[in-house]
Amino acid sequence: MKHEGGGTQVSIIIPTYNESQNILQMLKSIEEHLPENTTAQTIVVDDNSPDGTGRLVDDYLKNVKKIANHTIDVIHRKTKEGLSSAILKGIQYATGNTIVVMDSDLSHPASLLPKMLDALKHQKCDIVIASRYVQGGSIRGWTLKRKLMSKIATLIAKRGLSVDAKDPMSGFFAFKRQVIQGLKFDAIGYKMLLEILVKKKNANVLEIPYTFTNRKFGSSKLDAKTVTDYFRAVWKLYRHGNSAAREERRTSVSFFSKAGRFYSIGAVGLLVNYLVSSMFVVSNLWYIYATLIGIAVSMSSNFVLNKLWTFEDRNFEPRHTMTQYVKFIGFSSLGALTQIAMVYVLVDQYDVQYPIALVAAVSCAAISNFILNKKWTFKEKVWS
Ligand code: GDD
Ligand code: MN
Repeated sequence: MKHEGGGTQVSIIIPTYNESQNILQMLKSIEEHLPENTTAQTIVVDDNSPDGTGRLVDDYLKNVKKIANHTIDVIHRKTKEGLSSAILKGIQYATGNTIVVMDSDLSHPASLLPKMLDALKHQKCDIVIASRYVQGGSIRGWTLKRKLMSKIATLIAKRGLSVDAKDPMSGFFAFKRQVIQGLKFDAIGYKMLLEILVKKKNANVLEIPYTFTNRKFGSSKLDAKTVTDYFRAVWKLYRHGNSAAREERRTSVSFFSKAGRFYSIGAVGLLVNYLVSSMFVVSNLWYIYATLIGIAVSMSSNFVLNKLWTFEDRNFEPRHTMTQYVKFIGFSSLGALTQIAMVYVLVDQYDVQYPIALVAAVSCAAISNFILNKKWTFKEKVWS
């Protein structure tokens, strides 16, 4: 297989606990179904399985021929810490821009991988769920009791956490790495996907049907603790949802409080402008130069104060900050120019009285100044 630079980089995370009878066949099946131009990294996260799953994979890797654009790594954890936390560990280790999560017991068909990766690449979606509960999907080999449990858990998630997906409990899913950027996970129990869906409400989700086939070897690790963990996870996510909603309600207030800060700084700027200019005039500089220096200094101090206080931006990377600075100065100058133009037009063409024209022009410039800087300089939504 030739390595192609443009191919997708995929990290496939496979959590294992006592899967010695399944894991090697699983790895082979992945190998078989990976699309040709994909650079892939498979990460087995083993929790020191008593049946030696981790060691088995290590030995297998010593003897198997390396394939050019596919690496397989094993992360050995000391104790059984749970499925979600194993997945999270794998995500932290992963280097791909696309991440796939699947079980190691052959319940999840690797033959679905090409379709899932293709959807992430070519359709407008951030998360792809291999789904048992969309048309065409099904479950083979589960008892009625297990099916019922799954349905109830799904219902709780959909109603209680208002998640849209039909199969938010799926253990088989793929997503673009950037989707989870900045998210903090609790990683309780089995429900990694659910946690992502709740914490990333506006992600584009696509569900692709598949048939879940119950394992032939070994046994499910789902036990009573998994069930209580589930309720704990849902409760935590529910509270998370509430605080996110509170945050959203707060935003209209935040718009005005930011505007307040912005204009207070503007007033301070006038003072700085006045002080600096008069200081230079006193020291015998030509008054035009003194005025220009006053403007430059006050615009700069306005920029620094707005960055730190109004928009609470702590990214001081030099290039980024410089770009912001240039935009800020640009919008301020633009504001001043429109202000002059507006006064001129109102007074000269429409016979408006000067004080009224001035107030109109200043307010107009002030409002657009705030909004333009908010949106383009500090990259915030206007109404937040
Ligand atoms: N490292 C690690 N640590 N892996 C674990 C742990 C753990 O504590 N617990 C389970 N696993 C691994 C298993 O080895 C298996 O590869 C995978 O996680 C899923 O575990 P199973 O025990 O086979 O789960 P299941 O088949 O009952 O449940 C399936 O369906 C659920 C939806 O109803 C899984 O796909 C779940 O992820 C899914 O939520
Ligand atoms: Mn299973």
